[in-house]
Amino acid sequence: MQISDTQMAALLAAARTARQRAYAPYSRFAVGAALLDEQGRIHAGCNIENAAFPQGQCAEATAIGHLVLAGGTRIVAAVVVGVAAEPVTPCGGCRQRLREFAADDMPVWVADLDVVRARFTLGQLLPASFGPAHLGA
Ligand code: THU
Repeated sequence: MQISDTQMAALLAAARTARQRAYAPYSRFAVGAALLDEQGRIHAGCNIENAAFPQGQCAEATAIGHLVLAGGTRIVAAVVVGVAAEPVTPCGGCRQRLREFAADDMPVWVADLDVVRARFTLGQLLPASFGPAHLGA
């Protein structure tokens, strides 16, 4: 699926706005994510940390929750926004979470507050992945 410039701009804006909502008092590392679903809708999320550290949730997981709750079934593009020396790519667990609802060619853009710093496909980030088909789903 081709992503228009307008959709891309809207995804970036949604991820940057979501990042401002991050609850990250422990790491102080705010992340925002935005997902485009199969109906052309955008679902955003921020990271939500917890005093019991392993219970923290990544921005991508929050956004996936919003997509599912809204009735979305597929992720056709993803944007992750974070500010660091290196581009903020999805963590390993979130690559698998995205994989549940996305194809190998799904684009994943990694951006900061100013520019898109890198573009990957999900297949590049998570090659030879395990997915629903393995369970016959
Ligand atoms: N984080 C995300 O929200 N998404 C990622 O893909 C990378 C890491 C969050 C988790 C934690 O709240 C903070 O960034 C520092 O690891």
